[in-house]
Amino acid sequence: MDINILNQTAQAMVAHNKGLIAMDESNPTCNKRFADLGILQTPEMRRRYREMIITTPGLNKGINAAILYDETVRQRLSDDTSFVKAVEDASIIPGIKVDMGAKDLAGFPNEKITEGLDNLRSRLTEYSKMGIRFAKWRAVITIGNGIPTPRCIVNNAMGLAQYAALCQEANMVPIVEPEVLMDGNHDLKTCFSVTERVLHEVFEQLYKQRVINEGIILKPNMILPGTNCPDQSNTEEIAEMTVKCLLRTVPASVPGIAFLSGGQTSSLATARLNAMNAQYKSEIPWALTFSFSRALQYPALEIWKGLDENSIAAQNALYHRVQLNANACQGKYLSEMEIEGHQRQY
Ligand code: G3H
Repeated sequence: MDINILNQTAQAMVAHNKGLIAMDESNPTCNKRFADLGILQTPEMRRRYREMIITTPGLNKGINAAILYDETVRQRLSDDTSFVKAVEDASIIPGIKVDMGAKDLAGFPNEKITEGLDNLRSRLTEYSKMGIRFAKWRAVITIGNGIPTPRCIVNNAMGLAQYAALCQEANMVPIVEPEVLMDGNHDLKTCFSVTERVLHEVFEQLYKQRVINEGIILKPNMILPGTNCPDQSNTEEIAEMTVKCLLRTVPASVPGIAFLSGGQTSSLATARLNAMNAQYKSEIPWALTFSFSRALQYPALEIWKGLDENSIAAQNALYHRVQLNANACQGKYLSEMEIEGHQRQY
């Protein structure tokens, strides 16, 4: 493990008010999104979709790093360039999702544990040889009646810590992603207290596993009310509670925090990130940025619909979304910018 390499990579992933694009949907998740839009669910269509995304002109103006999926790193662009090289050619750092998904936690109904530690060391070695410089592992915590249980939180935090240690051993930066889901009717305060417990446990387990904070990126949820909560809270409350929770739990030695979008609309995810950076930048020790999947890509996917003739319009939509989020990293996003994007061609 070389902490200088890890720290340099982690710093580069969140530098210059830019963020990450999570184009790492598993095949079942990607297929579900395709099915919703009537797009054929085949390896070739997933390849074309990822090619459309990564060849977006100027993507690196707002994106430092891209999270890829195992199928994608074994595929090639139409011109035979490998995806990893295409990402590097776009001046973007290539990374990869390495968890094998959240599965039922035995003995704990309605709770999940993320799998994927078996053979992880050899998989990381292979990915590292391909030129991949960071990894991602997502743990899922559900809020509900009597859950999350302490055991679910501890088991998931231990999994994240073991994964992170293996990544650092391979000089790959671990993105540590403990996601408290938005599903449910819980309120903002409940999300706050659950996320606070989860993040405390995650950093406790990272410490016990001898993971170096300077060589990780945290990918948390924002503090949000459940989707079915009658009080949906305003942007300022969400920004305040999210920053408060992170200040309580995340060491200042962590280089960056890159949020997941978790099912928020694209514009809300951007507005909330913007409010945090606009109001609290002087109080926070880490870069606060984005690592969205749906909130970045969905508008482009809806335009693309699997048709080559829609690719340029889809790329324009993606580029616009990326620019809005890069503005949000500086606290300079304005809702009027959403409209401008529909008129501007890049
Ligand atoms: O693991 C999930 C992705 O990296 C983030 O996806 O922004 O759609 O929640 P999302």
